[in-house]
Amino acid sequence: MASTPLTAAFARAFGAPRSPHGPVPVARAPGRVNLIGEHIDYCGLPVLPMALRRSIHVAFRPRADRETRLVNRDQRFAPSAFTVNAQIPPAAGGDWSNYARAAVQALAHRFPDLRGVDALVETELPIAAGLSSSSGLVVAVALAILHANQVTVAPLELMELLAQGERYVGTAGGGMDQAIILGARVGCASRIDFHPLRLTFTAVPADWQFIVAWSLVHAEKSGAARQAYNERTRQCDEARRLVATRLGQREDITYPALLAAAPVEELLELAGATLSGVLARRFRHVVTEGTRVPQAEAAMVARDLAAFGRLLDASHQSLRDDYEVSHPELDRLVELAREAGAAGARLTGAGFGGSIVALCRVERAPDVVAALRERYYAPRGAASDVARHMFTAEPSAGAEVLIPE
Ligand code: GLA
Repeated sequence: MASTPLTAAFARAFGAPRSPHGPVPVARAPGRVNLIGEHIDYCGLPVLPMALRRSIHVAFRPRADRETRLVNRDQRFAPSAFTVNAQIPPAAGGDWSNYARAAVQALAHRFPDLRGVDALVETELPIAAGLSSSSGLVVAVALAILHANQVTVAPLELMELLAQGERYVGTAGGGMDQAIILGARVGCASRIDFHPLRLTFTAVPADWQFIVAWSLVHAEKSGAARQAYNERTRQCDEARRLVATRLGQREDITYPALLAAAPVEELLELAGATLSGVLARRFRHVVTEGTRVPQAEAAMVARDLAAFGRLLDASHQSLRDDYEVSHPELDRLVELAREAGAAGARLTGAGFGGSIVALCRVERAPDVVAALRERYYAPRGAASDVARHMFTAEPSAGAEVLIPE
């Protein structure tokens, strides 16, 4: 663990650790890249993400009282403090500490007598890049509070608790991010099923390389992108109710049950006859993306890179045209990655900016990386910083608390 600088920074922020044993514990939560199954977790349909090696670290020390003090090593994010209880007032909209407040409030609901922590936050993840640095903060702060209070929560319960809890920030998100960040396994992608929540692991073939590239466009989860996100969750719900009624099904049928009740072609035909243009397109994205996830999982099991790549391409097209969450810069990155020899590429995360994920054979990765550097980052004046914007993604382990020796 490269904790010495973090520990030293912690001592500067909060005073030297009282413990004679030296360094403070560190909660680590990885970022995630969703491979396929985008904007369908909140419809209860399975998704296929994996965790990244790049992580958020929270060095922490239990406090004797209910206060929590947060300092971020990135000085763009001002220090913040609040009292641990089940009704924590939010900081101003868009404030980074709201993700920590979300985690602590959710835990305080469940465990009324929690003490607070002093916590120093450091991240290797690009912010607002569609790689879930915000849910990483939620998870890392939650693990810090639990550890500080010597409380444990079963993993699946914690995933659900934090997914609900993160709605504190005003985004009606699904449960993908918290589940993969907590539950990921090294070397694997995870299919996440919801209701009931379950993770199923598939080894990523050793000769496959996923590349993550940030578009340089921030996908802020607050403001306009949040409204557009929440609007889509409402549209999916409305489309589902209308199609279900037309099909003679109960209005509260879930998307998985709807997909089991009739073939996709029939659902799409019904949607075309029942829904407005926008709702029909949203619906088409959800059900077609819902069918791509098991196909992609099967392609990974079969080590069929070409098939997986085609599914990535189809997903991007659907997100761009039917779901309207892409951005011209994401479309450009996807196009360049394919031209450079990627088997497929798509935007990953909520979109509206953020990153793409591209897939190629390991030996091809240097070509794809070089092409994106020269044809995307260089013309935008960002070639010198390219290692921060683009990296090869190794399927990594889920969150943990690192205890110093
Ligand atoms: C955000 C949300 C997730 C998911 C993705 C889109 O990351 O937090 O729950 O909906 O967008 O797939």
